[in-house]
Amino acid sequence: VPSPESFNGVPLLSQLPPLPQLEGIDYRRSPLDSFKVAIAQHASTALGVDIEKALEAVGIGKVGDFTVAVPRFRLPGKPNDLAEKAAKDFEPNAYLAKVEAKGAFLHYFLNTSTVTKLTLQTIHAMTHGNGAPVDEETKQPLPSYGSNRSGDGKRMVIDFSSPNIAKPFHAGHLRSTIIGASIANLYQANGWEVVRLNYLGDWGKQFGLLAVGWKLFGDEKKLEEDAVQHLFDVYVQINKLGEEKEDNKGEKIHEEARQYFKGMEDGDQECLSYWEKFRTLSIKKYKETYKRLNINFDVYSGESQVSKEYLKDALDQLRGADFVSKEENGATLIDLSPYKLEKTMIERKDGTPLYITRDIAGAKQRWDTYGGFDKMIYVVASQQDLHNAQLFKVLELMGYPWAQKGENRLLHVNFGMVLGMSTRKGTAVFLDTILDETKEKMHEVMKTNETKYAQVQDPERTADIVGMTAVKIQDMSGKRINNYNFDWSRMLSFEGDTGPYLQYNHVRLCSVERKAKEADGVELPIQDLDMESINTDLITEPKARELVLLLASWPDVVKAATRDHQPSTVVTFCFKLTHVVSSCWEFLLVKGQEKDVALARLWLFRCSKDVLGSALRLLTIEPLERM
Ligand code: ARG
Repeated sequence: VPSPESFNGVPLLSQLPPLPQLEGIDYRRSPLDSFKVAIAQHASTALGVDIEKALEAVGIGKVGDFTVAVPRFRLPGKPNDLAEKAAKDFEPNAYLAKVEAKGAFLHYFLNTSTVTKLTLQTIHAMTHGNGAPVDEETKQPLPSYGSNRSGDGKRMVIDFSSPNIAKPFHAGHLRSTIIGASIANLYQANGWEVVRLNYLGDWGKQFGLLAVGWKLFGDEKKLEEDAVQHLFDVYVQINKLGEEKEDNKGEKIHEEARQYFKGMEDGDQECLSYWEKFRTLSIKKYKETYKRLNINFDVYSGESQVSKEYLKDALDQLRGADFVSKEENGATLIDLSPYKLEKTMIERKDGTPLYITRDIAGAKQRWDTYGGFDKMIYVVASQQDLHNAQLFKVLELMGYPWAQKGENRLLHVNFGMVLGMSTRKGTAVFLDTILDETKEKMHEVMKTNETKYAQVQDPERTADIVGMTAVKIQDMSGKRINNYNFDWSRMLSFEGDTGPYLQYNHVRLCSVERKAKEADGVELPIQDLDMESINTDLITEPKARELVLLLASWPDVVKAATRDHQPSTVVTFCFKLTHVVSSCWEFLLVKGQEKDVALARLWLFRCSKDVLGSALRLLTIEPLERM
C-alpha cells in the first residue's frame, strides 16, 4: 500500500516509504497511524512477532513518543536482552528517528520533520480541502479532522434530555442534554448514523391534573409565550389545591383528574385536545431552548408515543412468563430478585401500565421503527440505575435477540448529580434562568474591555455563547459519574480550566492570523490547497513539537472518548491543548518575524485553532472568533 499521496485535494507527503494496510488503521485521517505502524514494523521484524500483535503493543510513551513493552510478547529469552538487540537492529527512517532500549522497554522517537508536516497537512486537508471535507469514495461530507469511518454502516439510537412536561427541567435533564448531545456527536464523528430521540414525559395522570388546573388558572397568552413555565405554574397551583383537606376539596380535584386522564386513555377527543395543545406548545418552547444550546433532535418522542399495540404485545408476552406473577390485589409484578434486581410492577391494579412498561414496549417499537440498531443508548441519571438494569434484564428475558447480553447493544450512560444548582437568588431552577444569568454575567465582563467589546459583532449572542460554554464545560470536566458543585464564580472565570478560558484561547488563535496580516501583510495561503511551500522544518522548539504531537493525537482522543462514553476525555484534551498553546506564545512569535518562519508558525496556530474548534463543536460548543 503506497503512503497517502493526497487527500481532499491536498497533497500529502509523497516520498514516504510504503506501509502495510492493517485493520483499524487509517493513514489519511490519522497522522499517528503511519508512525504506529512503522514502530510495529520494526518491533515485529526485530523481535520476530506478528505485526498485528506488535501494533497492539504500541503505547503512548513517557520516555519516548511511543513505547513497546517486550515482556508482553512472552518470547523465549530475557526481555531486556531482546529489547537491547532490537534497538541495535534499528535504522532511522522517514518515520522514526531513534529507538532506545531501557530495561525491557523499547522507547521510540518520531521523526520530527515528518510528523510535523504530515500532521499539519492532514488537518489542513480535512478542514479546508476542496470546500467542505468530502469523502473521495462516497462523495459524502466528512466531519472535520479527528473523525474516522469505523462506524460506517452502523446505526445508533440515543435517548437523551427527555424532560417531563409541566415539571421543572432540572439539573439532571440539563446533564442528560449536554452529555447526550456530545455522545451523539462523538458517534457521528466515528461514522455512525445517529437517531437523536427526546423521550418526553408527556403522558400520565399529571395531564389530567393539568387539564383541571388549566380551567382554573390557565392563560392562553402565557401558554403561547412560554408553555414550559406557564404549565409548571399551573401545575404547582393545582397541586396545592389538590392538597386541601377541607370538604374533601383536594380529593375531588384528584378524582376529576383521574377521570380526565381516563378520558385521554380511552381516546376521548376533548380530553386529548388539551393534552395535544400542552404538548405541542411545550415542544415549541423546548426547541427554542435546545436551539440556544446548539442541540437538536431528530424525533420528539415520549411516553405518549409508545403505541397501544406494542404495550399490549409486551404485556401479553410478559403475562405468560414464569418470572411474572399477579398479586392478590390485582397488580402485575416481575420478579427480578434472582438477578439482584428486586421486583418491579408492570401493571397497576386498575390495569394501567407504568413507566417501565412503556420503556419495555417502547424499546421493541424503536427496534421496528428505526430498522434495528447496533446500539441504543439511554442517557439518564444514576438515580435510575436500577430502572435501566431492570429494563435491560426484562428485554433480555423476553428473548429479543438484540437485547441479549453478548450483543452489547443496549447501554445506560449514567451520570451523577449537580449539587447546589439554583439561581443566584436561590429560587427554583429553570434552565432558561440559569442561562440568562450566566449570559448577563459574561456580558458584564466583556464590557470591561471597551476596545475589544466594540469589535464584537453581536455582543448579546457572544455573551450567551460564552455563558453556555461555561455551563457545559463545568458539566463535562469530570468523569460523568461524579457529582459536582454548581459553582458560579469558578465556572465563569477566565482563568483556570473553565469554558471561558477555552473560548478565550480560540479567540486568541483567531486573532494571531488577523494581526499577522495587519502588521506584516503575512497571510496563510488558505485557498491554496498546496501548502508544500511552507517550510515546517522551521518549527523546531520542543514545546512546538509537543503541540504537534497533541494535534496528531486528536483522532485517537475521539476514539477513546467514544469507547468510554466520556465527553470529559475531550474536555481534558482541550485543556491540554490550550495549556501547550499558551506556553508557546512567548517564543513562537509571528509578528515581525521572517516570512518563512512566520508562515510556518501561523500554520501551526491555524491547525491548533481548527482542532480546538472541532473539539469544542463535538461538545456542542460554538467556537468564537472574537469576544
Ligand atoms: N422523563 C424521565 C425523567 O425525567 C427520563 C426518561 C429517560 N428515558 C427513558 N427511556 N426512560 O426521569
